[in-house]
Amino acid sequence: MPSTTTAALSGLVQAQLHSPSPIRQIMKMAERANIIAMGLDPAEVISFGGGWVNHAAPEEFRQAYLDIVGDPAVFHQSGAYTATLGDLGCRQQIARFEAHLFGVPRLGPEHIAVGLGSTQLTQDLFTTLVDPGDTVLLLDPTYANYEGQLAFVSSGVKIVRLPVLDPATWTYRPVSDPEGTARDFVRLFDEHRPKLVLFGAPDNPTSQIVPQALAELMLERTAASSAWLAIDFAYKCQYFETPPAYYAWSPADHPNLIGIHSNSKWARGLGRRLGWIEAAPHVIEGLERVQQCSILCPDTLEQMAMALYLARAIDDGSLRRYVDDTNVRYREAARVTLEAIDTHVGRRRLTPAGGLYTVMDVGRNADEFVPEALRATGVLVVPGRGFGPSIANGVRISFGPMVMTPDRITEGLRRLGAWMRD
Ligand SMILES: Cc1ncc(COP(=O)(O)O)c(C=O)c1O
Repeated sequence: MPSTTTAALSGLVQAQLHSPSPIRQIMKMAERANIIAMGLDPAEVISFGGGWVNHAAPEEFRQAYLDIVGDPAVFHQSGAYTATLGDLGCRQQIARFEAHLFGVPRLGPEHIAVGLGSTQLTQDLFTTLVDPGDTVLLLDPTYANYEGQLAFVSSGVKIVRLPVLDPATWTYRPVSDPEGTARDFVRLFDEHRPKLVLFGAPDNPTSQIVPQALAELMLERTAASSAWLAIDFAYKCQYFETPPAYYAWSPADHPNLIGIHSNSKWARGLGRRLGWIEAAPHVIEGLERVQQCSILCPDTLEQMAMALYLARAIDDGSLRRYVDDTNVRYREAARVTLEAIDTHVGRRRLTPAGGLYTVMDVGRNADEFVPEALRATGVLVVPGRGFGPSIANGVRISFGPMVMTPDRITEGLRRLGAWMRD
């Protein structure tokens, strides 16, 4: 007789099923079957929803994969486990990469833990650093996944948010009101004593870069209070202006500083999962213990290809050329996006300092605006609320997926603007 009772999921998962990632919800709405059910032609839909890049990976990187899989003995080796923190050679090359591109000094393999992309690493970093009852200070708005990731680490973590988008003026406060933002940070920090302060540079969804002075204040306060400062550098290589000096900060000099890094965006390795954490050696040791349970080891093939590619591409100058050429493309896609918003939509938006996005004011609840816009125009944008309350009346517009087809950017925003002005 088959059993009739259904065993329960964990309480934590049940609770989280009731608060799913808002971005994933929207992306589900844009799935082919839903689009057809709405009476739209999937070929006509233009999506500004995806937080992903669409330029080609370096040809020399692809060649590194070919060299590995083309040699039976080396391919065999790529099926072996590596150390839990990653292969030593790969970690050495990552340290060279950071020194070469950004001038990060005194970084060694002892400061680096390799993992399966920054999502897994961030989750394991939270496990490494945060206890139930601790407070974490995030920006408002910021990357939507942190909240769920913190909930999965412990149900008792408190989140406080530093407002960085002023919805009244649609400006990025750390630039438009640096003193006010610094005051707010100090007030929140002193009141809540966070164990961890975390921001993205550039951030998702704003594509703004926290200025040097605010980063210094955060470093100083966290260091003086035995707290951590973590910077999510998922988009570090995508900058449209000279990066601030903290892009070269090293955990060798600042033991409470942690960098979260990813191959997803710069090398278009989104699904070839590889990322790394830069931190003081005892944080890396803590992460090693966590990764022993979460992943056992990072992907060996990805590490071998990365190490081989970097060893060649740093020496022959092709890495620098690739990053520079890619930046030209994204800067141009950002320019096309802003021009199309200004010409066709006429709404307030931020000018990206890097990354893949801008955020635009739609002047009303974006949770309602987005499905209506999709039905009426076949254009998908992401409602802001999931990134933080300050952006509930705004949407994230991602130009990353259309970096190679800028005419689609213009066409999508033309359609959206025509409907909004109706
Ligand atoms: C700020 C930020 N951090 C991390 C990630 C996830 O990156 P990964 O592919 O390395 O897991 C993203 C992806 O969009 C992101 O925007």
